[in-house]
Amino acid sequence: MSATGLILGIETSCDETAAAVVQRGAEILSNAVSSQIAVHSPYGGVVPELASREHLRNILPVVREALAEAGVTYANIDAVAVTEGPGLAGALLVGISFAKSLAFALGKPLIAVNHLEGHIHAVLLEEAKRPEEPRREQEAGPTLALVVSGGHTHLDLAEFSEGAGTWTYRNVGRTVDDAAGEAFDKVAKLLGLGYPGGPWIDALAPHGNPEAVQFSFSQIKAKVHRRGEPGALDPTEAIYFSFSGIKTAMLRHTQVHEMGASIEARRAALAGLPDPRPADAAPLCDQRTLDLIASFQRSVVDDLRRKTFRAAEMFGAERVIVSGGVAANRELRVRFTAEAAERHLPIAFPSLALATDNAAMIAAAAWPKFVAGEFARDGLTAEPSLKLGS
Ligand code: KG4
Ligand code: ZN
Repeated sequence: MSATGLILGIETSCDETAAAVVQRGAEILSNAVSSQIAVHSPYGGVVPELASREHLRNILPVVREALAEAGVTYANIDAVAVTEGPGLAGALLVGISFAKSLAFALGKPLIAVNHLEGHIHAVLLEEAKRPEEPRREQEAGPTLALVVSGGHTHLDLAEFSEGAGTWTYRNVGRTVDDAAGEAFDKVAKLLGLGYPGGPWIDALAPHGNPEAVQFSFSQIKAKVHRRGEPGALDPTEAIYFSFSGIKTAMLRHTQVHEMGASIEARRAALAGLPDPRPADAAPLCDQRTLDLIASFQRSVVDDLRRKTFRAAEMFGAERVIVSGGVAANRELRVRFTAEAAERHLPIAFPSLALATDNAAMIAAAAWPKFVAGEFARDGLTAEPSLKLGS
């Protein structure tokens, strides 16, 4: 094992080109992220072809930035870690090709990391930095992680195996259609707000009445209990999410209440601003729209909260972690924290910088693999639908 323990992490699974240097899975020496929001914003979602091209354009400057900020050279790095999947195939391939070539040229090991595992380690990484708190991996009982982002809504049980020195995972819940973040993005687009939608809805929701409109998630059951569908989880032991219904319900609500003209006026007003921000949108929304936004957010947050804590109970979790872009949501943090306190269950979220996609979490997740000598095979390639654990 190396004396320094420096891992260079690379992440290109979606629309952020990111590189970071992390020491021993605990100390972030640098965390560079080049966002493609401006590129995809006119389309209201990530355009895969454009994402790949932007990654290719940005990867070298971002890696250089991460090394410079950390004050290290390629020679100081002990291993290169890269996101293997899940994500966009073309986007993943840019990071993997780069990382593979770099590791080969430097004669250093390459470590493949699952993006979802990365999100979980965004929280573990920050805990490892706080010596006053007990290292959780030494405690008994699994951690339940909700990874909730633009591409994922997953519940995974994570457990540290002392013998192997690595983490093992078991998927116990997932969405059957849209991810929660995708619902935030689509609903924001539908209401004439900016991209990505989460921060816009987060900023506007406190101005509305969250109980004004009732949305029901009950129709999900009939659909998800279909046995035998590819990749289906055991219905007796799994928890399912579905967010496509609420998106359709929102669309219907705007049609029934004839909100189309005001939505288009808002879209045009924001398009006329040089750099529209969530704070600009509040004066452009009438009370009915604000109530609708608040009700949407409340429904999604409460569905996530109810199912997460049900899973924690079902699987005897010792604590809960919430990570991924949607974990930045303020109402989500407040309501999850309150329920965890009621249940005397520890709960942790990443700092805002580590909630959304970044490479520090990839380098941190790679550390136990580095120590255990779990290196990537020569044939490593992009795995767009990679699952986490069993
Ligand atoms: O983890 P992330 O950066 O990328 C993926 O792996 O998808 O998550 C991005 C997602 C987007 O859907 C975005 O709208 C959502 O996270 N998001 C939020 C907030 N900030 C970002 N959703 C709700 N509230 C927020 N404050
Ligand atoms: Zn992510």
